[in-house]
Amino acid sequence: MTASYDLVVVGSGGAGLTLALRLLELKPDARIAILAKGPLSEGSTMYAQGGIAAVLDAADSTESHIIDTLGAGAGLCNVDTVQFTVERAREGIDWLIAQGVAFDRDGAVYHLTREGGHSHRRVIHSADATGRAMQTTLMERVRASSAEVFEGHNAIDLIRERLGGGRLGRCVGVYGLDRASGRVRGFPARAVALASGGASRVYLYSTNPDGSTGDGIAMAWRAGCRVANMEFSQFHPTCLYHPKAKSFLISEAVRGEGGRLLRPDGTRFMDEYDARGELAPRDIVARAIDDVMKRLGCECVYLDISHKSEDFLASHFPNILATCRQYGIDPAREPIPVVPAAHFTCGGVLTDLSGRTDVDGLYAVGEVASTGLHGANRLASNSLLECLVFGASAAADLAQRLGSLPAPPVIPAWDESWVTDSDEEVVVAHNWDELRRFMWDYVGIVRSTKRLERAKHRVKLLLNEIAEYYGTFRVTSDLLELRNLAMVADLIVRSALARRESRGLHFTIDYPGTDVIAPAQNTVLVPKNFSARRAI
Ligand code: FAD
Ligand code: SIN
Repeated sequence: MTASYDLVVVGSGGAGLTLALRLLELKPDARIAILAKGPLSEGSTMYAQGGIAAVLDAADSTESHIIDTLGAGAGLCNVDTVQFTVERAREGIDWLIAQGVAFDRDGAVYHLTREGGHSHRRVIHSADATGRAMQTTLMERVRASSAEVFEGHNAIDLIRERLGGGRLGRCVGVYGLDRASGRVRGFPARAVALASGGASRVYLYSTNPDGSTGDGIAMAWRAGCRVANMEFSQFHPTCLYHPKAKSFLISEAVRGEGGRLLRPDGTRFMDEYDARGELAPRDIVARAIDDVMKRLGCECVYLDISHKSEDFLASHFPNILATCRQYGIDPAREPIPVVPAAHFTCGGVLTDLSGRTDVDGLYAVGEVASTGLHGANRLASNSLLECLVFGASAAADLAQRLGSLPAPPVIPAWDESWVTDSDEEVVVAHNWDELRRFMWDYVGIVRSTKRLERAKHRVKLLLNEIAEYYGTFRVTSDLLELRNLAMVADLIVRSALARRESRGLHFTIDYPGTDVIAPAQNTVLVPKNFSARRAI
């Protein structure tokens, strides 16, 4: 007999673990399963560096945090969502401290660092490895809780109740692939929450771990949810440039603490692009670096923090210092070579303030969701905050509703009767590489209609090839991720083509200006199986 759950959480990053723990605080008897496609620790949360934005200093104000968030979001943030999030930041931080997260102190108070787009020091942190402190603490709490953890399980697709006449009802579970055995099983549940992170691995160069393949966005889209603002892929300006460093971030806090961006000849350039210099919002800094690199034909620019003492660097940035030194670069003595890389998916599955999606019983929290917080460009350190606030609000909503959500019906077994083992794994590897390369070349920091059309054509061919492959061969983790990445690439390209202006992170040479006449619009894509009756 298959176990049935009150809630299945897909993803074990900051959002998923917060949701599970918060729900157990409110409903200690809730039966929760957490699916993680790798080890419990693996996800972007583990690698987060700078910290979490929250108004914690008496000289700061929620109004100021709201204004900075709206400013970075370039006219597309939902003001109610921003206010909702910012007002709950302190409670989220207090909760993390109560779980055991040790943030850096400055005497009697917490040390707050500064990042681009913030007009105050308001980023609470644990040296330069805030994500690790948060992830490991929450993992410990979850392991000690009653939640059942399924590591090495890829969620494949959501299961919706079948009503009469081919109509689909609420979400009643998810199919998952056990990577160790290769078997697929159903996880029936009263409710499912997607907490599966973003899709930045759709690009060749990314700060994200390998698993950021947009699985939740693709699953929700296939299940009938609307998806919003997918054109706003955030590129972090400063990823370490070294042939052996795969995707190591140099935190924005380095610029917050005085780091300067330099051309290869040692001259500063950010003041020529924005009055805020190195502390301009990320979209502006990443585009400026891209411009310098293209003009000079250089492979990277440099980030110089060597004017700070070694002691200062060792106490504020121990992780960055050690990693750079491992690659033969000493930030205390020389500038760090850096390049921009895909970092954050601002768009995602459309939700309300409780994380509810268009499909009844299905929630989305964290980077997978489009809550309206980030608009056209996320403000630094607002993402871990979003995980905390929406993990808690989804838990509160679920705690109220669980009693009235019916137990899931028996779900059909996964049908593998017509598939065989693949003898062409090379096709999957080749398509992965091709997809990520043309997304980088054609749908990157600076776009054009011609390049987007090219990408659209390539994505269409890939989608057809992958659909054929998917229908013929047994699923593997690589195939599932490729299928999801191609779908997300399609959503990004379609959204980018639909926006006939440049705004926030979306910059196209064919429409270089921001439309200041028409009201700013979100790009909302509607799937064929969307049912307006259930719209949030
Ligand atoms: P993640 O932490 O990415 O977790 C996703 C989870 O979903 C993982 O457990 C993964 O295994 C699982 N998963 C995915 N697909 C499936 C599937 N099909 N089946 C089962 N499980 C699945 N933000 C800040 O606010 N401050 C920072 O300082 C900061 N620094 C960052 C530094 C780096 C290098 C990176 C990459 C990001 C940083 N961010 C930062 C962004 C922030 O870390 C992420 O947006 C946030 O952690 C996302 O949390 P999440 O829980 O939504 O997803
Ligand atoms: C960083 O430390 O630069 C990342 C911060 C973020 O992505 O919010």
